[in-house]
Amino acid sequence: MPTVIIDNHPVDVTPGSNLLAAARKLGLDVPALCYMPGCEPNTACMACVMKRVDTEQIIPACATPAVDGLAVESETEEVRSLRRAALELMLSDHPGVTRDAATGVLRCDCDERDNCRLRKYAIAYDADPDRFAGPPRAEQRRYGHPQITYDSSKCILCGICVQLAAQLGEPLGLTVVGRGFEMRVDTPLGESLDAALTVAARRCAGACPTGALRAFDSAAPRG
Ligand code: SF4
Ligand code: FES
Repeated sequence: MPTVIIDNHPVDVTPGSNLLAAARKLGLDVPALCYMPGCEPNTACMACVMKRVDTEQIIPACATPAVDGLAVESETEEVRSLRRAALELMLSDHPGVTRDAATGVLRCDCDERDNCRLRKYAIAYDADPDRFAGPPRAEQRRYGHPQITYDSSKCILCGICVQLAAQLGEPLGLTVVGRGFEMRVDTPLGESLDAALTVAARRCAGACPTGALRAFDSAAPRG
């Protein structure tokens, strides 16, 4: 069984697993917003970074195989500040997020705030939504589905819903359209959300790390 070393703590890992799984085995709550076991890592968020001890390279834990002998830093102030910056970049155009000037408390007006992993880690890392602030993206809410809504302004382009829809055999599914700041997840060919997600809607909403995809009756915290 391979052993990796995280912050000087050896941890035995299942062959074929990644550094993120190793960190979780050690009890570390590393922010991983664009990764879900069973999906391919697409390293869109870079909130899960760690630093290799040997090369000092900054690496995404979700996409790095946990090979025997690999030693990394995870909870140092340097690594945590890089994660904080990644979270601040995601917050920079996220609508409805503000910081109370007097208390510094992060506030969010989203209905899904108690289930939102971006908010959870932004609070845990004391991320400043104003550090890289740009204009918030306009709300682009899509209804037309009996179980879920979709607001692309809250999407962080993790790609998990796109992968899940494909894995669950959706004939249409979801896709990424646009370029640069206009890039977003949408239905193909302007089809309705209902047509695009016939069986995968609830799984996609449950896996969405923000409130972009939301089940009408969502109550349970997201994993
Ligand atoms: S809608 Fe949610 S799950 Fe889909 S890409 Fe955007 S953030 Fe990820
Ligand atoms: S979870 Fe690793 S880069 Fe997003």
